[in-house]
Amino acid sequence: MTLATLIDGKSIAADLSRRTAAAAEDLRKSLGRAPGLAAIFVGGDPASALYVRNKDRAAAAAGLLPSTRHLPADIAENDLLAEIERLNRDEGTDGILVQLPLPPHIDRETVINAIDPEKDVDGLHPLNVGRLWSGQKGLVPATPQGCLRLLRAVHDDLSGLEAVVLGRSNLVGKPAAALLLAADCTVTTAHSKSEGAKEICRRADILVVAVGRPRLVGADWIKPGASVIDVGINRIVSPEGQRQILGDVDHSPARAVAGAITPVPGGVGPMTIACLIANTIIAACRRSGLPDPRF
Ligand code: GUN
Repeated sequence: MTLATLIDGKSIAADLSRRTAAAAEDLRKSLGRAPGLAAIFVGGDPASALYVRNKDRAAAAAGLLPSTRHLPADIAENDLLAEIERLNRDEGTDGILVQLPLPPHIDRETVINAIDPEKDVDGLHPLNVGRLWSGQKGLVPATPQGCLRLLRAVHDDLSGLEAVVLGRSNLVGKPAAALLLAADCTVTTAHSKSEGAKEICRRADILVVAVGRPRLVGADWIKPGASVIDVGINRIVSPEGQRQILGDVDHSPARAVAGAITPVPGGVGPMTIACLIANTIIAACRRSGLPDPRF
């Protein structure tokens, strides 16, 4: 039995990080300052805290100037909007990220819509969403951008391939579908209300799974030889009491059927922060009238 090729997100992200670090250094010389990435973190969700800490560390290592503003969980929406406005106006801030999820009393859309679209390194502002779907230059969400970079490591050309995205979130599923469509795939989005999701997935040459359900996708959901991108990062405690990180795909049996597959951890995860840093550098270049770097 041949096992699927493992798509090594760690090494692909490390390669991207080397290139973004070189671009950040060039920018620092031409701007006289490091590109600035500002995060706003409301409350104390532990998974978000870990992400924000890792992002700050990676951004500093890449030569960016990271800053994270920690705000209390009971902050008034207007005070959060005022903080975003301050960052919108701040010359030294090139990228702004509001960590999600937000507490329930804060309206997520109002907050996202308040971010300057040219600094929206998460690519969630409706202007960037519209640009993505209409093929215009904008800022592309980091995780699905990472998925496409991983696919390009094993496919020279995605044109004409049957792609299925399982999951329809604004952060991953929807932009992943847009990117695959822009790469000339035939794209289907399946989700929790889809009838026959397994059969839909089994048609896919390219399967991107982003549902947040540990091991939902078994080997019998996968077309032999397909490329499988597992976006899930599910932290669970095993019956033996061990902490584990599982993907949305049941990895070992799936690897016996797929042609190429990402591991969890070490697949999509490392790409997200590397792509966020790339977005910050792109935003900094555009804000200062420089051409886009080619990463
Ligand atoms: N929460 C989980 N993933 C993300 C992300 O990529 N960006 C933001 N802002 N929040 C998140």
